[in-house]
Amino acid sequence: MPRFYRNTQKMTKLSLAPFQGITDSVFRNVFAKHFNGIDKYYTPFFTAIQKDNSKNLRGEEIDPQHNDINILTPQILSNDAKETIRFAAHCKLLGYKEINLNMGCPFPRVANKRRGCGMMTEPDKTIAMLKDIINNIDIDFSIKCRLGYKDNDEIYNFIETFNILPFSEIILHPRTGKQLYGGTADIDSFARAASMIGKPLIYNGDIFSIEYYENLRERLPDTESFMLGRGILVNPFLAEDISGKTKNEKNRNTRLHSFMISLYLERMKHSGGSPKVIGRMKELWSYLMYSFEEPQTVWRKIKKVTHTEEYEDAVEEVFNNNKLIL
Ligand SMILES: Cc1cc2nc3c(=O)[nH]c(=O)nc-3n(C[C@H](O)[C@H](O)[C@H](O)COP(=O)(O)O)c2cc1C
Repeated sequence: MPRFYRNTQKMTKLSLAPFQGITDSVFRNVFAKHFNGIDKYYTPFFTAIQKDNSKNLRGEEIDPQHNDINILTPQILSNDAKETIRFAAHCKLLGYKEINLNMGCPFPRVANKRRGCGMMTEPDKTIAMLKDIINNIDIDFSIKCRLGYKDNDEIYNFIETFNILPFSEIILHPRTGKQLYGGTADIDSFARAASMIGKPLIYNGDIFSIEYYENLRERLPDTESFMLGRGILVNPFLAEDISGKTKNEKNRNTRLHSFMISLYLERMKHSGGSPKVIGRMKELWSYLMYSFEEPQTVWRKIKKVTHTEEYEDAVEEVFNNNKLIL
């Protein structure tokens, strides 16, 4: 049993980080059927909400018939208060309880336009926008950010605003945008920011194992919510292992195999059998391969496939002949 369950009565909450191109509604629904332990989900970011009935808001990704509105928060990437307010109104109408603003996307083509993490380089404009949004929406509002874009102290320009405005939560990935995903998450900087922020603060970054998580729990005793990212794409059992809530006792090879088949079949169904599904499955495999003893052997088999039959054969071959290390 994970140590924190023995040490403390306090239950922590686990959420699944959004991944553009991977954790869409099809993934989230199949994942929730196969695995336990995730309390909350976020959509990958929406963009281009230029009008009330924007095409981007009419798909399965946000439709309550395809999503559990009680545990899903839609996310937007925008540097425009009006667009975010429009998004919030639409989400509220659909029954969602909260929206999330992406202030963490680190890619230069996004950040250079003062979007995502780029918003952290211009605090005055960004704070004015946050105030405008909060004054004009009728739904909980949260943000996901980094320590800064260029420097890890940009966050201090925002702490007062974080404390004054009624954010429902703040998710902090303790890296700079410039780092992208290089180096390691800066837990000390997270702890320092956490000691100054009087709002529910969620830790996100580099949780790949129970050991790492337990170490975090010791170093961040007041943090109650953790967002799992690449760690759960590598090991879909991670939230079960951390929470101790196992979905079923079948062996892990069988469970993972069954999850990957269901995800593939659902993707085929939702896309009308599009061969693009192979590309999306490969994207997940680029993480999942590390849950096998010989990741490169697994990746070589998956990487080269282009047709559905080839893909299906390669997956059977991987699960029959490669050892899982989960
Ligand atoms: C391919 C990819 C797509 C991502 N898409 C999003 C996104 O749409 N919204 C977002 O807030 N973060 C996005 N992220 C960031 C992750 O949600 C997460 O914050 C990041 O991977 C750090 O957590 P980790 O160290 O646990 O992986 C993305 C990351 C990657 C690698």
